[in-house]
Amino acid sequence: MEIIIQSTPEAASRLAARHIARQIREKPDSVLGLATGSTPRLLYQELIRLHREEGLNFSRVTTFNLDEYVGLPPEHPQSYHQYMHENFFRFVNIPISQIYLPDGMTEDVPEFCAAYEDRIQEAGGLDVQILGIGTDGHVGFNEPSSSLTSRTRIKTLTPQTLADNARFFEAEGEQPHHVITMGIGTIMEARRILLLAFGQQKAEAVAAAVEGPLTAMVPASILQMHSTAHVFLDEPAAGELTKADYYRWVLEQKPDWQL
Ligand code: F6R
Repeated sequence: MEIIIQSTPEAASRLAARHIARQIREKPDSVLGLATGSTPRLLYQELIRLHREEGLNFSRVTTFNLDEYVGLPPEHPQSYHQYMHENFFRFVNIPISQIYLPDGMTEDVPEFCAAYEDRIQEAGGLDVQILGIGTDGHVGFNEPSSSLTSRTRIKTLTPQTLADNARFFEAEGEQPHHVITMGIGTIMEARRILLLAFGQQKAEAVAAAVEGPLTAMVPASILQMHSTAHVFLDEPAAGELTKADYYRWVLEQKPDWQL
């Protein structure tokens, strides 16, 4: 695991965007796994800037989102379909036929989930997966105790995750308790993983994921088993890491082309 600590979320997001831009330039038909939530907003803004100002071309890119709320139609303002459209898709040139998100309105969840997995395989597998992390250590919406080999399926959110995300929902009772999420096994098959975490509220989960034991109780700790996982942090999110100085030192030694 590579731990990249930056002074601000903006700086960390710029470095993460650089990985993605390099990936797309080297392989224009790259397959990207995308996340929603507060964390990747700056990353999407930087990718949009690279598209506008430096001609980063997404026309052959295919995307698969990690998750979607069960029961929210794509046009719902809090659906992840809307989030992706508003924060990313409408500003870049990914053809709509190459954009995939779980269908929160599907009438047959197991069938949909199996087809989603098949679609990822048919696209050639995920080249890069972007992740945030929940305060309880979830990735995607694989909550603590999720099988570390799980595939795309329906999950029930923990009260902690519901409370963390309640700010996005105005009316009480509007927030779904269920999601369709890629599984941990699905995520782990991505050839490269970029996890981003910002703010002191993520520090405990980050430390548990990076330096704690590998356990289904901290689903993000499975990234310790991935050959190419990069963790982009701001200083507050790195606040509980015992080896932070070592991670900074490693980064200082790196040649610019490797960043
Ligand atoms: C979102 C997702 C979640 C979030 C996590 C952090 O697609 O899969 O795992 O990444 O809940 O959310 P934020 O970034 O809002 O703190």
